[in-house]
Amino acid sequence: MNIAVLGAQWGDEGKGKIVDLLAPSFSIVARYQGGHNAGHTVYTRGRKFILRLIPSGILHPGISCVVGNGVVVDPQALFAEVDELARLGVAVDGRLAVSDKAHLILPYHRELDVLSEARRGERKIGTTSRGIGPAYEDKIGRRGVRVGDLANRSDDGPLANAIRENVESRNRLIGGSGVDWRSVFDQVCGAWDRLKPWVADVSLYLDRARRAGRSVLFEGAQGTLLDIDHGTYPYVTSSNATIGGVCTGLGIGPRAIDGVLGVAKAYTTRVGEGPLPTELADEMGKRLRDGGQEYGAVTGRPRRCGWYDAVAVRYAARLNGLDAIALTKLDVLDGLERVSICTAYRSAEQTLTEFPADLAQLAACEPAYESVPGWSRPTRGARQFGDLPREAQRYIERLEEVSGVPIAIISTGSDRDETIIRPESVLARWLPLAIENGRGKS
Ligand code: IMP
Repeated sequence: MNIAVLGAQWGDEGKGKIVDLLAPSFSIVARYQGGHNAGHTVYTRGRKFILRLIPSGILHPGISCVVGNGVVVDPQALFAEVDELARLGVAVDGRLAVSDKAHLILPYHRELDVLSEARRGERKIGTTSRGIGPAYEDKIGRRGVRVGDLANRSDDGPLANAIRENVESRNRLIGGSGVDWRSVFDQVCGAWDRLKPWVADVSLYLDRARRAGRSVLFEGAQGTLLDIDHGTYPYVTSSNATIGGVCTGLGIGPRAIDGVLGVAKAYTTRVGEGPLPTELADEMGKRLRDGGQEYGAVTGRPRRCGWYDAVAVRYAARLNGLDAIALTKLDVLDGLERVSICTAYRSAEQTLTEFPADLAQLAACEPAYESVPGWSRPTRGARQFGDLPREAQRYIERLEEVSGVPIAIISTGSDRDETIIRPESVLARWLPLAIENGRGKS
């Protein structure tokens, strides 16, 4: 079985832990979109790993990791991550494939990102300042530079021409003393020797692997509500974080995806600007932030926190065809007297039960909440559904009803072992091994 694991909210749902947990049941883990704006945190062997570009499966020896054409790659960020992994005793060579069609984040993309945010002023997106948007702009504008282009580094070849034209247009846009295209060219070319051994035709690689009976876990970055097409546009990232991104971002057909697992927190968070209907700007919001250590893994920015938004998760279920949900950070709600669930958005004129495309319409509404009893006995570290306090069990069952998707995995702490895998869930069919061993092979 090949399974996609993707974010059902605004990113930071805890995908890293879930991918790491399920990875032992797969041969390959493949990233299909985003770049080093992602920060997938995994706690294992008593250490904290933050993976940005390299799929979280890299922490398991023997698993191959793929960076697809839909990802934008900053070579320096990739090298820094490889070096960091090496320091921690994790070798990537022979286990990493980077698509020759993946677009590069060039040195000036980051600068353009920061500048564009400054120009937007109060309407800024709150990007991660990693150059992600400008790199995707160049890709869509058909002037981008791809990893495979580095193979031809002649002075008058297409790579040199593309970089020269791009730098000239950057200089016209920004003014000042300007960037020297040759220094950018030399810098970019300098990355090739190190990149080369990893570069592959990822579509072909995956096709051959699948024919040889190897299974693939598709790892999403960011989340459904940050998707360029279906998210809270323009407050989104510049790629398709939803399920379609798997096909376009890796060069595979839809039938290669056997199941879709959405990851959602037991509450909601968002980092950056844009609507967050259930945001709590009060003590409760602060409590969730402190309890959940809700600070961006990449930028360290405090995340905005609020109650679980079932309208948003239902939308994610529809867009992605979710078969099941992995619910994370349940333990953060431990000790609350009551917990709220948003089931609709309401104003004097209307009640919305489906997520609207029009942000003004969304802004005119308040969340309609259902309040359920909280629990005092900690859920932290629970490994069986039956070990959870009755109220926590009811909360989960209610989330399943209002989200319209069964919850197959419940994360009750940051460690791999602090997880409930429900044996009656779809996971039993997908990954009998994971179920058998309670939580994967390793
Ligand atoms: P960009 O992807 O850096 O262009 O940022 C666009 C928006 O997506 C901003 O609101 C970011 O905070 C948000 N974003 C990007 N990557 C992540 C992520 O991995 N987790 C959560 N939010 C993200």
